[in-house]
Amino acid sequence: MHLSADTDNQSNEPRVWAIGGGKGGVGKSVICTALAMSLARQGERCVVIDADLGGANLHTFLGMPNPRHTLSDLFRKKVDGLEDILLPTPYENLSLVSGTRAMLDMANLSYQQKMKMIRQIFALPADHIFLDLGAGSSYNVLDFFIAANDGLLVIMPTPTSIENAYHFLRAVYFRKLRKVMKRLGVDELVNSSLNEKVRGGIRTPQDLMADLKQRDPGVGNAIALEMEQFSPCLIVNQAQRNENSELADEIAMACRDFFGIEVKVSGVVRADERVLISLNSRRPVLDMFPNSPFAEDVQRIVRKMTPDTEAEHERRSTAAQL
Ligand SMILES: Nc1ncnc2c1ncn2[C@@H]1O[C@H](COP(=O)(O)OP(=O)(O)OP(=O)(O)O)[C@@H](O)[C@H]1O
Ligand SMILES: [Mg+2]
Repeated sequence: MHLSADTDNQSNEPRVWAIGGGKGGVGKSVICTALAMSLARQGERCVVIDADLGGANLHTFLGMPNPRHTLSDLFRKKVDGLEDILLPTPYENLSLVSGTRAMLDMANLSYQQKMKMIRQIFALPADHIFLDLGAGSSYNVLDFFIAANDGLLVIMPTPTSIENAYHFLRAVYFRKLRKVMKRLGVDELVNSSLNEKVRGGIRTPQDLMADLKQRDPGVGNAIALEMEQFSPCLIVNQAQRNENSELADEIAMACRDFFGIEVKVSGVVRADERVLISLNSRRPVLDMFPNSPFAEDVQRIVRKMTPDTEAEHERRSTAAQL
């Protein structure tokens, strides 16, 4: 299972990014499309998967009509695998897996089916795969977030969005913890520790780790080692003012101090009226307004998160000019 934000993907497997954030309407789909477009323009083979099964709409962000094939065909076994429902988009190096009409099928998805889908995602012929997750903290959202190499948390600088993000992070953390302890076969130990929580002893993941280490140092340290790999990335979207970059650092610090979760700040994306204009024109912002503040900010985030890709891209364009 791919559990960490390992940025040095040496294998032929794609790097899988999951975009979540707890709250609806913060800009997950806009950012997801823009990150993928940015890398596709550099020659990286990208796939966006619309895993927001409650409100699948990525095809609209890409200016595509109602998709012919969707995840529903996969769940209903009308096709053999995920690769069969890959749709070309109007943009080079960018394909789409649509989630339209898959909502009811997804609600009934068994854990095994979900794990099979995750295996198929990692087997797709691509360099980068972006999972656009729905709002909320349902098990489906949490499991895809955990499975990705990079979990990106998109928030807005509003108290409700920040609150939802903390709730989301906590939910992902405990979901991952359950998986780790199951794999290590130590359900009992963690359960008794968590029961303490019910009685008011344990309040945060950090408290829980301290308690586990005290009960059984060997097992506690093994779990802590695995959980330390959980290091999601934070994007503050629709920022209005400069101080929003400090807000990202403050949230990351709070996550470390109160939860013991190491959150990395990926960057801040400014509020930009061109986002709505491009949405209404059914064209991605990076296509319609490639030099807009929004596009600049997204490209800065991509450069930060894929330093090797950027260097390779520059090397190739210099070689082409010679
Ligand atoms: N940086 C930005 N500047 C201005 N408007 C933005 C920006 N980012 C997103 N928006 C606007 O916010 C709205 C919601 O964006 P989007 O659909 O991507 O959110 P979402 O998090 O995917 O929502 P949902 O949870 O419903 O899927 C869109 O109308 C979009 O135009
Ligand atoms: Mg969305």
